[in-house]
Order: sequence, then C-alpha cells, then structure tokens
Amino acid sequence: MFQDPKRYQAKHHYVTSAGVDLVEVLDPQVEERILDLGCGTGQLSAQIAAVGAEVVGMDLSTEMVEAAREQFPDLSFVVGDARDFSFAEPFDAVFSNAALHWVKPPETALACIAACLGQGGRFVAELGGERNIATISRALIDQLAARGFHPQSPWYFPSLGEYARLVEQAGLRIAYASHFPRPTRLESESGLRDWLEMFAEELTADVPPAMRGELWDAVEDAVRLALYGDGGWHADYWRLRVVAYKE
Ligand code: BEZ
Repeated sequence: MFQDPKRYQAKHHYVTSAGVDLVEVLDPQVEERILDLGCGTGQLSAQIAAVGAEVVGMDLSTEMVEAAREQFPDLSFVVGDARDFSFAEPFDAVFSNAALHWVKPPETALACIAACLGQGGRFVAELGGERNIATISRALIDQLAARGFHPQSPWYFPSLGEYARLVEQAGLRIAYASHFPRPTRLESESGLRDWLEMFAEELTADVPPAMRGELWDAVEDAVRLALYGDGGWHADYWRLRVVAYKE
C-alpha cells in the first residue's frame, strides 16, 4: 500500500479532483456521520466535513493516515482494513473514492460496509471497473513477462453486473449504478512513469531498481500510440459508480 503521501499529493492530484463530483453525489448533510473508506491523505474527508458532517477517514496505510492527521488535525482518521472493520456507532453513509479496486475479496469489504451503516444509510462509491487501465496493465504485464516476472494483479476491476450482484448480496439496495470511461490526463511529461512508480509498486516488487528505468521506457513505448496525445499521457480509466441503501 502507499507509503509516500508527499509523492501521492504532489503528482497525483487527479485522484482527488475526480472524487470531487462523487462528494456531490454523496450530498453530505450537517451532522451526518460519514465514513470515508480509503481516505488517503484526507482531502475528500475534509471536503465532506466542510458542510458540517462528522467524518471518520479510514485507510490501510499508516503513512497516509499520519499525513491526513497532520493536514486536518480537527478531523478523525483511523488506520483500518476495509475487509475487517467495525464501529460502535452506525454511519449515515459510507463514501469511497478510488480505493475499493485495491480490496480483495470484495465480499468481505461489502459485508463490513453494510454492517456499519444504520437503517436507510447509503453507500456511495467509485472504483475502477472492467477495462480499467487495460492498456497500461496489459503492457506492463507483457513487459514484466518478457523479463521473467509473473506477478499477480493487485487490482479488482469488476463489471457493473458482477459488482451490483455483490452489493445486493451484502444486503444493500442499488439506487444507481454506472460504468463509464474516464480517460484521465496524467500530470506531466513523466506522468506515465510517475503513475507506474506510485501505483504499480506491488506488480514490480521483484524487479531490481536498476532494471526499472528500462522497464518504464518499454511500457511507454508499448502504449504511446494509444495513450499519448495533446502533449500528454492519458490513463485509460473506466469507472464504476454505485449508490446503494441499507433498508
Ligand atoms: C484507479 O484509480 O483506477 C487506479 C489507480 C491506481 C492503480 C489502479 C487503478
């Protein structure tokens, strides 16, 4: 998991920016109790809290939670695993942006989410869906295989049908679900390798540091035609957005 909050914030603003309109979908209300699951460095938690909601931000990464506490000392942040958590007090909503595609198996996370919601509580989430970063991950996996590395993918990118079924099986009623492309401009000429260095850490854990520069070059070459344009790199994101209620 992410251990470098400074690098995350400096080079990957688009993760938070893309979550801003998910906060609008959440539509937090004064005094609502809201869990921000996979809160990272806490920017969206702070935005939710700004309307007067009582927010708890949770993240698996101690480093991210420490950075969130430092930036937003008035808010509450806890280190926790999305597959194994519970709270004494129920929440009015669970919000999650760009985090649940890191969580396997999804059923255990959905069971915890459903259990921590009060009656009528809502689950508002966006994660990578089917086809998400297919071009980047195909190129990376091929280039790793060409060098003798065969890692397991750390990601879970479900289809809308599969995720909707799991959400319903967890006891939540779906009010809205959508699967849509969101090509996302990365933040500089080195955007693709910044992305790979930050997010492909698990896939490249066995690759010696001295081999990485050449690996990133090869991945860039493989995807350039598909993902480079208008003077920059664009990640081939596909999002899955869900709003569901506990009845
Ligand atoms: C995503 O937001 O879709 C994503 C980010 C990093 C790695 C994999 C997926």
